[in-house]
Amino acid sequence: MVPNIAIFASGTGSNAAHIIDTLHSKRVNVVRLYCNNPEAGVIKKCELRNVPVCVISKEDWNAKESSQWFNQLMQDGVSLIVLAGFLKKIPAFLIQHYPNKIINLHPALLPKFGGKGMYGLNVHRAVLQANEESTGISFHFVNEHYDEGAIIAQFEMYVAPSNTPEHLAERIHQLEHRHFPDVILSVLNL
Ligand code: GRF
Repeated sequence: MVPNIAIFASGTGSNAAHIIDTLHSKRVNVVRLYCNNPEAGVIKKCELRNVPVCVISKEDWNAKESSQWFNQLMQDGVSLIVLAGFLKKIPAFLIQHYPNKIINLHPALLPKFGGKGMYGLNVHRAVLQANEESTGISFHFVNEHYDEGAIIAQFEMYVAPSNTPEHLAERIHQLEHRHFPDVILSVLNL
């Protein structure tokens, strides 16, 4: 059976687009994008790829099992949730419905540079301020604490002395795109 996966994203969506384009030929159905920001670039990218979009309002995000987005998720028969730059904290009820079935991507080598406030350029600035010789990306299952669930895979890269936070972000994105589809396939046992 072809697995149905959902992507949750809040931002520009380069990872979401890359996942959709790559998994298209691998018998995985990206059934819907869930997005908390109606202005996010990821929405257009999904529409261009004919992936339906569900925009989640602030009130609805906290409304638990009765919310429209959660009903949609159930109706879609989603077996795996992929967080690709999703900035909201995942509620406990969703984690209970999807134990070890929600994957997050973090742009650093956890447990370093994780936790509240550690997203986007903040992470890369912190890496440079700490004079790290290397950084990387972490794929992990989501539990009730930010960036603390079991690690699935990590990939490392060197930090060049001349790197700015923006350079690091660009290089980290390349690393993310290279590995994200394969990590999803491995979690799905495909
Ligand atoms: C990525 O760097 C990811 O690690 C982080 O948010 C960023 C999302 O980028 N969690 P994009 O929206 O996929 O381009």
